[in-house]
Amino acid sequence: MSKLALVTGATSGIGRAFAERLAADGHDLIIVGRRKERLDEFAAAHPRAAVRVVAADLSTDAGIDTVAGIAAAEPVTMLVNNAGVAHYMPLADLPAAKAGEVVHVKVVAPTLLSRAVVAGMLERGAGTIVNVAGMLAFSGPAPHSQMPRRAVYTGTLAHLVAMSQTLSAELEGTGVRVQVLVPGVVATEFHERQGMDLSAVPRMPAADVVSAGLRGLELGEVVTAPGVEDAGLLEAIFRAGLAAFGAQSPELATRYRLS
Ligand SMILES: NC(=O)c1ccc[n+]([C@@H]2O[C@H](COP(=O)([O-])OP(=O)(O)OC[C@H]3O[C@@H](n4cnc5c(N)ncnc54)[C@H](OP(=O)(O)O)[C@@H]3O)[C@@H](O)[C@H]2O)c1
Repeated sequence: MSKLALVTGATSGIGRAFAERLAADGHDLIIVGRRKERLDEFAAAHPRAAVRVVAADLSTDAGIDTVAGIAAAEPVTMLVNNAGVAHYMPLADLPAAKAGEVVHVKVVAPTLLSRAVVAGMLERGAGTIVNVAGMLAFSGPAPHSQMPRRAVYTGTLAHLVAMSQTLSAELEGTGVRVQVLVPGVVATEFHERQGMDLSAVPRMPAADVVSAGLRGLELGEVVTAPGVEDAGLLEAIFRAGLAAFGAQSPELATRYRLS
């Protein structure tokens, strides 16, 4: 059976590494990004794969609609929702347009592209959706002095984790898989494009993130954390979350009752 992967944010970093690996693994590709010359260059460098280049801006409704239309019309076997931007900034300083850009690229686009592919995948009884989030999804309570200002970006990553886990459960037994990848700091253009120099910080190569993602799928993981040695730590987070969820009651908790 032919394999067709749609990868967003394939012009650099993790998305490009996904496109490389999937092409080498015999996939045909639909690659998405704004820097069309890089997409064209990738297609020219991979003459053995059928590569369709889609220049689209996923921070706009029109760009998302274009890609969602293609995703719904084509027999996509793997969707990699990878495109991303963070715009690290205190919320009060973050221009509304940049906040909207982060939410569009990291929440609206992955949500609508997943929606676009899932009906066809269900009909075919097979398919994989990979959402690229990040370890910052779990960083909310971290002391802010040690972390970038990131409320909106972190929120989008948490959305991807919760959506992926919930959708994975919804699709159980259908043959359609959902995975969320949560890398730590990765050596890509991500930080330098935002004016940050992380070249002195130890960073994981993008190719290792892809290796973890593909191996994580083989292992049956829903949440794949490429740099976390003890997978039990993640299981503990989710167990604790479910325990709190299950402990809710319609009765007002004692600590909130006026004495
Ligand atoms: N690098 C890290 O430390 C790190 C850690 C955890 C998670 N992540 C996640 O990994 C994903 C990939 O990032 P990366 O590290 O590989 O960074 P990158 O090299 O900057 O790649 C980001 C990709 O997203 C695309 N993109 C950004 N805005 C877009 C838009 N409006 N429309 C279409 N495509 C857009 C870019 O393409 P164009 O600019 O050509 O459009 C580029 O291909 C991101 O979602 C990020 O949240 C990164």
